[in-house]
Amino acid sequence: MAIEFIEEQQAWVLQTAQTAYVLRVAQDGQWLQHLYWGARLSHPSDYFVGSLSASDLPNYSLPHTLAEEFNSQGKLKFDEPCLRAVYHDGGRDTVLVYESSSQQAVEGGDELTITLRDSFYPLKVHLYYRTVEALDLLVRRARVENTGSEPIRIEQFLAASWDLPVKPEGETYRLSHLVGHWGAEFQLRRQQLSVGKMILESRQGFTSPHANPWWACDGRFADEYANEETGAVWYGALGWSGNWKLCVESKISGRTNIVGGFNDFDFEWYLEAGEKLESPAFVAGYTEAGFGAASRNLHRYTLDYVLPPDHANEIRPVLYNAWEVHTFDVNEQNQSELAQRAAALGVELFVVDDGWFGNGVNARNNDRAGLGDWVVNREKFPNGLKPLIERVKQLGMRFGLWVEPEMVNPQSELYTAHPDWVYHFPQRERTQQRNQLLLNLARPDVAEYLFEALDKLLSQNEISFIKWDFNRSLTEPGWPAAPLTRQREMWVRHVQNLYHLLARLRQRHPQVVWESCASGGGRADLGILQYTDQVWTSDNTDAFDRLTIQEGYSQVYPTKTMLAWVTNSPNPITGRKLSVRYRCHSAMCGVMSLGGALNEWTEPELVETKKLVAQYKEVRHIIQAGELYRLRASSTGFAAVQYISRDQSEAVVLGFLHSQQFLMPLPRLYLRGLDANALYRVDGLDTPLTLSGSALAQIGLKLPLHGDFDSCMLRLNQV
Ligand code: DGJ
Repeated sequence: MAIEFIEEQQAWVLQTAQTAYVLRVAQDGQWLQHLYWGARLSHPSDYFVGSLSASDLPNYSLPHTLAEEFNSQGKLKFDEPCLRAVYHDGGRDTVLVYESSSQQAVEGGDELTITLRDSFYPLKVHLYYRTVEALDLLVRRARVENTGSEPIRIEQFLAASWDLPVKPEGETYRLSHLVGHWGAEFQLRRQQLSVGKMILESRQGFTSPHANPWWACDGRFADEYANEETGAVWYGALGWSGNWKLCVESKISGRTNIVGGFNDFDFEWYLEAGEKLESPAFVAGYTEAGFGAASRNLHRYTLDYVLPPDHANEIRPVLYNAWEVHTFDVNEQNQSELAQRAAALGVELFVVDDGWFGNGVNARNNDRAGLGDWVVNREKFPNGLKPLIERVKQLGMRFGLWVEPEMVNPQSELYTAHPDWVYHFPQRERTQQRNQLLLNLARPDVAEYLFEALDKLLSQNEISFIKWDFNRSLTEPGWPAAPLTRQREMWVRHVQNLYHLLARLRQRHPQVVWESCASGGGRADLGILQYTDQVWTSDNTDAFDRLTIQEGYSQVYPTKTMLAWVTNSPNPITGRKLSVRYRCHSAMCGVMSLGGALNEWTEPELVETKKLVAQYKEVRHIIQAGELYRLRASSTGFAAVQYISRDQSEAVVLGFLHSQQFLMPLPRLYLRGLDANALYRVDGLDTPLTLSGSALAQIGLKLPLHGDFDSCMLRLNQV
């Protein structure tokens, strides 16, 4: 059993391969105390050495010193609460006491359920702890339940609280997190925490490109920081695609805890008698093998436990998307022509992006009209999509389509018929972003309309892939048709209904592969990845910028979910000129796909692309499903990533040189994760080489990179 109950301590020890997490019922059930999270210790009794109980401490220490598993607003406690509730009589304190526990075996580990109840009011909180033993991860979630007859107003409800080992007074951890904006998503930042709170969040109604619900803390001992390969790292990722919040708090006492879940900004949820509300899952882990191992554990977790199982093990195809070429100006002829060119290069899935729908004055010829009217434009596709789909199939490819279902342009049939279907406050102007408004998916009738519209589209056409876009933030979050007390539930209900809608569509159309997009990588999180198979990483397709974006993305999410197109040079967004080889190599670090104006590419560009697409297909099983090692960061000017098959028999290295200066020799590259005793044949150097795994790790390789923006790919095979 990975979870052991120690009777005399009233404690649970949750063990994974290398780590342990310990909690106990303190003071005769008065509260649930967090005791330990870190490396597995050899004797269970070790976990309790020096653990203080409330009675050991003078009163004033309590708020700063003791770690609670799930704190609520109430008593002498001032941590960021996981739960704030208001009762029918105006009571605003919640005092959670222990009620019961149970445990069961689940795939990959065990699950412990602990039920707490308020000491007076009829409210229960169920805490779930699931171990993923092989990956050293713990998945936590919570459920709050009204067991009485009067409604309870929930004002804050988080998934979990994670406490890190206490540091000497005044010392803090270093926090890693992701920031960004359109065209620059997933920028990694590392900063020393101050005593105080650091809030990472979205209030925009979707995950957002500005921050991502992931955190990592290192620096357990003063001056001992982790790197890619070594060092203690605690880390976690929240699976929620709406307003989320992570609060990282360092206290003067040396305690640090991270709480996260639904954002309490504008949040309110009425639990009527018998109703329950469930938090998203919040996965977290501890490793002593640095940031690289933390990422690999999250990658494997996502591949094995999060992604929809029906497509999780499939290799992602090379797709073509003409958004950068034609924007809204798509039609049967120009798409057929591009399809032919794409097929000749080895593309397997041809995707028609924005612009294919809406009719008459609502035709989607630009971003001012059409969203909401999911019917094929008769001028651009006079016989519907079928002739194009047939052509694509004849060319040996599958067909995919772009949609943005949650949105509506005021200039559309849908909005004309249902102006009340969007979020709005009756007395306020409806703020438009990209000339569009957001449908109130919290409304069951809107959810049903979208299901029917998309179901029809997918039933009438042979579609294998949907790119599901989301191009604005949520403003004027009004839901006038709902009872006053329930209007703020839209933040959560929108996402719940989105997940439900995707689940229904997936069930009805199991052949379809789904891509999450929000103006690029604005909706990438472990929540949406339960319902979509991959992510459009960024609208910035500059192959050099992409190295940084991809490096950030890879902190959390697996390569198989990370789409990367090869597009034109100069790049339409950055103006940077890069060789087709560099552009292809950069895209090969993810799910390589194409997005350029193939009708304008030179013959040598097309020949090179075709060759590299074919090479990618030979190694993509390693890239997409293997283990990732970030050998060198893009910020060093010489970036390198390595992918290795799980059986260590094959590996791929991609290297990128920004610019060579002063005849300085390139640093050697030390490979990782190989079988030290095995011999590997290395192809891609000036002359092929056979070396042992240990030599490749210790002596390393000199990559054949010269000049500016050079790149290369090496293949390693065990001999
Ligand atoms: C934003 C996406 O990120 C782009 O790839 C493209 O699909 C456009 N939307 C279409 O409007």
